[in-house]
Amino acid sequence: MLQVALLALGLGIPSPAAAQANHAKSLAPFVPSPQNIVEHMLDAAALKPGETVFDLGCGDGRILITAARKYRAKAVGVELSPKLAQMARDTVQRNGLKDSVTVIEGNLLDVDLSGADVVTLYLLTESNSRLRPNLEKYLKPGARVVSHDFEIRGWKPARVEEVQAHRRAHKIYVYEVGK
Ligand SMILES: C[S@@+](CC[C@H](N)C(=O)[O-])C[C@H]1O[C@@H](n2cnc3c(N)ncnc32)[C@H](O)[C@@H]1O
Repeated sequence: MLQVALLALGLGIPSPAAAQANHAKSLAPFVPSPQNIVEHMLDAAALKPGETVFDLGCGDGRILITAARKYRAKAVGVELSPKLAQMARDTVQRNGLKDSVTVIEGNLLDVDLSGADVVTLYLLTESNSRLRPNLEKYLKPGARVVSHDFEIRGWKPARVEEVQAHRRAHKIYVYEVGK
């Protein structure tokens, strides 16, 4: 087992132990938001040029890329999966967005969110409940949190919008901090 782990480390592949530890920390599987939902989320957040958006669980980085390209925003993604984090970094590089986008490989529950004007989420309701203390600790008044399909229990949304994609209605919960 140790040999397998050492070999995996050498190849940059997560060892079975690391993969198991990541599995335990997982707050949601990778299910990408459709592109029209991504744009609807950023519009709903009224993301402005120069603002910073954090996508917590950024997957392949599509929200980051859209925020930087279409909205001229800064974007920070946090992703637990090394493979997805690398995929997001590669896309950032290919699109020449290295100055606007940062991808952090790690647990979104460990990240300081004080730099965020907007936070985007596509996790699960239970996961949002685990994240909520951090949102309350770090986010400044005026920050917006936009969650795809899953509410933040105990918070009152400013709006809930419905958008069609992939033949179903998706919910977009929009929260405004300090309101
Ligand atoms: C439903 S996908 C959303 C991807 C992207 N935000 C989007 O909307 O297209 C959830 C993502 O969260 C990541 N994730 C799950 N638990 C995490 C954790 N504890 N820290 C960081 N990322 C996590 C998953 O690997 C997955 O890529």
